[in-house]
Amino acid sequence: MFIPQLKPLESALKEYGSPLFVTDAENIRKKADYLTKSFSRFNTKIFYAIKANFNPHLVRVIKKAGIYGIDTVSPHEVRLALDLGYRPDQIIFTPSNPSNAELKFVGKAGVLPNLGAVSEIERFGKLFPGSEVSIRICPEVGAGEFDKIITGPEMTKFGIMEEEIPVVKNICEKYNLKMVGIHSHIGSGFYTTHEFKVSVFSVCDIAKKFDHIRFIDFGGGFGVNYKIGESSIDISNFAEAIEPIIRDFEATNGREIEVRIEPGKFLVSSSTALLMTVTTIKQKSGATFVGCDAGFSNYIRPAMYGAFQDFINLSNPKGPTQRVSIAGNVCETCDLFNEGIDLPEVREGDVLAMVVAGAYGMSMSSNYNLREMLPEVMVDGGSVRCIRKRQSFEQMMENFDI
Ligand SMILES: Cc1ncc(COP(=O)(O)O)c(C=O)c1O
Repeated sequence: MFIPQLKPLESALKEYGSPLFVTDAENIRKKADYLTKSFSRFNTKIFYAIKANFNPHLVRVIKKAGIYGIDTVSPHEVRLALDLGYRPDQIIFTPSNPSNAELKFVGKAGVLPNLGAVSEIERFGKLFPGSEVSIRICPEVGAGEFDKIITGPEMTKFGIMEEEIPVVKNICEKYNLKMVGIHSHIGSGFYTTHEFKVSVFSVCDIAKKFDHIRFIDFGGGFGVNYKIGESSIDISNFAEAIEPIIRDFEATNGREIEVRIEPGKFLVSSSTALLMTVTTIKQKSGATFVGCDAGFSNYIRPAMYGAFQDFINLSNPKGPTQRVSIAGNVCETCDLFNEGIDLPEVREGDVLAMVVAGAYGMSMSSNYNLREMLPEVMVDGGSVRCIRKRQSFEQMMENFDI
């Protein structure tokens, strides 16, 4: 986990202002290397789920670290991946309810669509008969940190049910589509192997029903530690748990199969901290509220899911411990980064770092309350460089034609 120090960041804070996202490139490289090694027992291709953090400079670090491809969910994510030098065959498009225009865009770009509804396969077949497709199945098992990010169970909007496979096969025949991959993603932030293993079994079971399967794709979702000092999960346990299922599939097929995984969170979350400055401290109803200059428009996971985020007081690391609730600057009751953690004494003007803020932070941020998108810097060894400028008022207004 990247734990920032104040001294090397003082000039960045002065130049770009607070709040500020700070990303450590080396942390990303280490995660990329660790994931690659953990799945090396298979013919594995890793696709970074770019929705976790689409900063192009960060994606470049991921690419240079040897991560094979990009998992995308929108045409603009596809476009960014292409602009960053990924070939179409290194990109997979797993949309939620795509329009025909979106299907046309990816088909023309030569990117493989990974479709999660019968209607989508039929529409793609009509647009691009004779092409390759893959499908996202519903494995009827899910796991993840919060209900809202568990995607695998039957009662979610995601995936094709096993009983629909005969219909899928008919559509493939009708439009001469070649089914090259079977995919599932059970949810985001799981820590044990059981549900993952069940989903891998479902994927392999359905893959056996098709003749031209080139890859099986188990999605992302590997859990990360959000608490300072907590140890990380061992990813090789996941590879080990599914090995017998994969080997059985390979034996049935008589050849080695390409295994894909699509980590987002695991690659980038621990690389980044969100630095913020304490503006207001107040006592209320027996609690100490530490008010900061960042809010859920910059990092929404605590407000949206009740996610835990750990903090460091960079300005007063050795102060006496105090229990505080860290509150944001958005005008909503739910704008609390957490409801009671122990921190060294916090004073107005102190700089706090919210750690493990690299995934679904910047990429889910908004202009709510007309707050701007934040600047980002990347540290790499001794260097600190700006990788995103602060959004200006004029940039927020430019499409309104005022
Ligand atoms: C299809 C798909 N793959 C991969 C991911 C990445 O998940 P995570 O960031 O938890 O690894 C997601 C996340 O929502 C997803 O929907």
